[in-house]
Amino acid sequence: MHLVTYMRLSVTDRCNERCAYCLPHDVTVEWLPKGQILTYEEILRVARVATSLGVTKFRITGGEPLVRKNVADLISELNKLAGVTDIGLSTNATLLAPLADKLRAAGVRRVNISLDTLNPDRYHELTGTGRLSDCLAGIDAALATGLQPKLNCVLMKGKNDAELLDLIEFAAGKRLPLRFIEMMPLSTSEVLTDENFLSIAHARQLIARRYDLTPADVKLGNGPAVYYQVNGLPIHLGFIGAMTNLHFCESCNKVRLTADGKLRPCLGSHLEYDLKPVLRAADSTDAQLREVFLQTLHNKPAEHEFRANYVPGRKMVAIGG
Ligand code: GTP
Ligand code: 5AD
Ligand code: SF4
Repeated sequence: MHLVTYMRLSVTDRCNERCAYCLPHDVTVEWLPKGQILTYEEILRVARVATSLGVTKFRITGGEPLVRKNVADLISELNKLAGVTDIGLSTNATLLAPLADKLRAAGVRRVNISLDTLNPDRYHELTGTGRLSDCLAGIDAALATGLQPKLNCVLMKGKNDAELLDLIEFAAGKRLPLRFIEMMPLSTSEVLTDENFLSIAHARQLIARRYDLTPADVKLGNGPAVYYQVNGLPIHLGFIGAMTNLHFCESCNKVRLTADGKLRPCLGSHLEYDLKPVLRAADSTDAQLREVFLQTLHNKPAEHEFRANYVPGRKMVAIGG
């Protein structure tokens, strides 16, 4: 039985970008109308119930969480809940620079920032619309504000495999942990082919051309990354190998809340439990919410289904990574 202490709260299914592996450029997204998205009050109520069941760490996700208005206000309230020890935020950082101070003051302790390439044209191509300079400004603002950024790079053969060493040098220059992530089949078109899938083992081989990697006994967050020391550099490299690491799910400690109020016990399973009818019933009680929560935890799969011809349902943007 998994001990669930970490909850990811998606606050919106919208994004200001269209990253190729999350929202393929040829896929039309039907954004959920406002009333279908949980209000901040509803999210907080779910979070309060979660803390009563042992959750202590939260991560705010999206879509892109910074596109939702006043997200710092939600975080401020979340930070006041008894038992909360950690609040993180996962963002593409293109909207982060002007918001960093406010988010830090609201109680965000750590931000994870997507950075898949350092080439401005490729950045624009991969994200559909994004500007690398905005993301870099977001990284600098996060550093300056004490938001303890970590960098996330989704591995894409033929797209960024030639840049892994450059990304490592960039991260080392900023003294930031960098994590390489295997691409998961989470968009509505088939994305995992021999032409574009790059495993973490292969990435380590490419990195070993310049650096020695030594497994490091460090835990830099609450997630599934495995960290290595890099000789001569002042940073740790993390590897998130959901597709090829057969033990990946053994230490899973988390549950997800989607922006439209579904509790999802596993990123790689279609199982979801709808909290919205309970949240919106006139006479609903927290005890009822707790019941749905316990049912979700009880039915948490032992492992994801990504290796079993998983057919993507919800797009990544609508689950929150
Ligand atoms: P920290 O370690 O606390 O920084 O959090 P994290 O690594 O969980 O957060 P982040 O949002 O940066 O996630 C990084 C990547 O790991 C994303 O691509 C996530 O989808 C993936 N990931 C995180 N948790 C899981 C999980 O339970 N299962 C799978 N398959 N992927 C996960
Ligand atoms: N596979 C793996 N990671 C993904 N992300 C988005 N889509 C995918 C995918 N299909 C990553 C983003 C971000 C994190 C929250 O999830 O790059 O860093
Ligand atoms: Fe890209 Fe993240 Fe937006 Fe998905 S949610 S399109 S990964 S920036």
